[in-house]
Amino acid sequence: MSAQVLHSTPAPVYDVERVRRDFPILTRMVNGKPLVYLDSAASAQRPRRVIEAVDQYETHSHANVHRGVHALSQEATEAFEGARDRVRRFINASSTREIIFVRGTTEGINLVAQSYARSRLGKGDEILITALEHHANIVPWQLVCEQTGATLKVAPIDHRGELIHEELEKLLSPRTKVVAVAHVSNALGTILPVKRIIDAAHAQGAVVVVDGAQAIPHARVDVRALGADFYAFSAHKLYGPTGVGVLYGRESLLAEMPPWQGGGDMIKAVTFERTTYNDLPWKFEAGTPNISGAVGLAAAMDYVDELGIENIAAHEQRLLQVATEALARVPGLQFIGTAAHKASVISFTLDGVHPHDIGTVLDAEGVAVRTGHHCAMPVMDFFRVPATARASFACYNTEDEIGQLVAALRKVREVFG
Ligand code: ALA
Repeated sequence: MSAQVLHSTPAPVYDVERVRRDFPILTRMVNGKPLVYLDSAASAQRPRRVIEAVDQYETHSHANVHRGVHALSQEATEAFEGARDRVRRFINASSTREIIFVRGTTEGINLVAQSYARSRLGKGDEILITALEHHANIVPWQLVCEQTGATLKVAPIDHRGELIHEELEKLLSPRTKVVAVAHVSNALGTILPVKRIIDAAHAQGAVVVVDGAQAIPHARVDVRALGADFYAFSAHKLYGPTGVGVLYGRESLLAEMPPWQGGGDMIKAVTFERTTYNDLPWKFEAGTPNISGAVGLAAAMDYVDELGIENIAAHEQRLLQVATEALARVPGLQFIGTAAHKASVISFTLDGVHPHDIGTVLDAEGVAVRTGHHCAMPVMDFFRVPATARASFACYNTEDEIGQLVAALRKVREVFG
């Protein structure tokens, strides 16, 4: 899905300078230099519209949701449930019963692991992931394996950082109960063929959990077209606030799953003898939710739809191409991850320079990139590097900024020889 969207759209007129004016933080100076923010894969910046939507909610409408007859509680409830419907439309889910608000992708995956997998899996069952996964899509499954006796299997990648689909298919069998895959690798940018994986997994009767954290800002995600059973993502990678995200789940599966966390709002009635649980989606939302976060996420979705996700994707793909060509000319630079289909993420090393040193010198030039293992230590092990520097591009980045990145990398060379 995303691959087609990312690669078939003709370049429309895209006014990046106008887009930049929507993001107040981009006018900042850092270390005396204009900020060049190339770390959106870690967290994207927020447009004024998101900041104002949250501010408006906090200033005028805040109260707790689902709990009061008073005006503010009703306004807050309308805002929160309105945001849920906004999310439903954004990912084309059938019903708001399938939209669970969580803290972020990590919590969404843990919810599926603990509620769906832990209650069903046992010895002899298998969970299949890929060698590209973020720790958030590895560790929750390791925990479930410890708890249930199930076994974790890992589909391999090749030297370009692409999933070897044939090997994944070989690992699929009727023993496979859950397949958990990233839609886009955070460390390398590889776009995985999730539709193909989902179809293959379903043919063996497995359910599929997609970690969509890195895909949702770059491509139209249609959960029904994909056929995903679960799809998790975070608001803050989509120009929304931190601390809020979404777990989409197929209603027929969610309906059969036990609650994960107990508390207020997820119940219908409580006695010391017996508790009955609330309807979907609230069965999975114990405690006061992140109301302002949901409001901000809805505003972020409005913003992205206004720009057009296909236009954003086309812009980012142009930047990816320009940056790949420019960085290839930097002496001693090695790309880590060269998949044919990539989101706008470039991981790299510089011969003889530790990635943290790259990050420090770039920061002194006002250029923000991420350095480290990117919460994907098995990917670093595969490429035999301790860490990489990673530049990631979003709707507001420019070709000039790529020039500034390259100039700053030449400074790194000067400093470290
Ligand atoms: N998972 C986030 C990243 O890739 C933090 O940077």
